[in-house]
Amino acid sequence: MSVVPDASHVTLHSASASQTHRLGALLGGLLRPGDVVLLEGPLGAGKTALTQGIGAGLGVRETINSPTFTLLKEYMGRLPLYHFDLYRIEDPEELFALGFEDYFGGESVCVVEWADRGVAADGATLWPASWLRIAIATDGGAKRALTCSASGARGAALLRAFVAAAERGR
Ligand SMILES: Nc1ncnc2c1ncn2[C@@H]1O[C@H](COP(=O)(O)OP(=O)(O)OP(=O)(O)O)[C@@H](O)[C@H]1O
Ligand SMILES: [Mg+2]
Repeated sequence: MSVVPDASHVTLHSASASQTHRLGALLGGLLRPGDVVLLEGPLGAGKTALTQGIGAGLGVRETINSPTFTLLKEYMGRLPLYHFDLYRIEDPEELFALGFEDYFGGESVCVVEWADRGVAADGATLWPASWLRIAIATDGGAKRALTCSASGARGAALLRAFVAAAERGR
């Protein structure tokens, strides 16, 4: 793992699935009620692998797998974890019709795969103003670049804490 900071984005590097899991676990250990983690990146980037690490860091004992067909799975660790996968969403309005926004900003943690598919044309989203976004890029091999950005005071604090933990965990 290495860290390359710039003004608003920080890129963490992972060389293996287990390193990505470890980064997720570090993040999971930092999460607080209401936190939202948005995951972006192509098929097979490692969004679910990172979420599995987040779950481990939250103390989830159940196996976390992709909720592609259900859109949402719920787990219990030291906090409840809602794991969304918006891959199959064609129109973000569907998510509002399903009442999914009610899951966000409460006492739970929300992790959203394919978060970019949850943004309506007018910019409306399910999630509140504070979030941490991790965009995962792959080189076709085992290397991954995890570019982290944030919105809101809590998102920024979480980003700083995550990067510090990743630097310590190197
Ligand atoms: N550095 C790495 N980080 C994460 N996964 C890796 C890495 N190197 C190899 N892999 C492999 O890449 C795959 C990532 O799959 P994963 O299901 O996590 O991707 P995803 O982004 O959730 O895909 P999808 O869009 O289908 O949900 C796994 O098979 C994992 O073992
Ligand atoms: Mg996935």
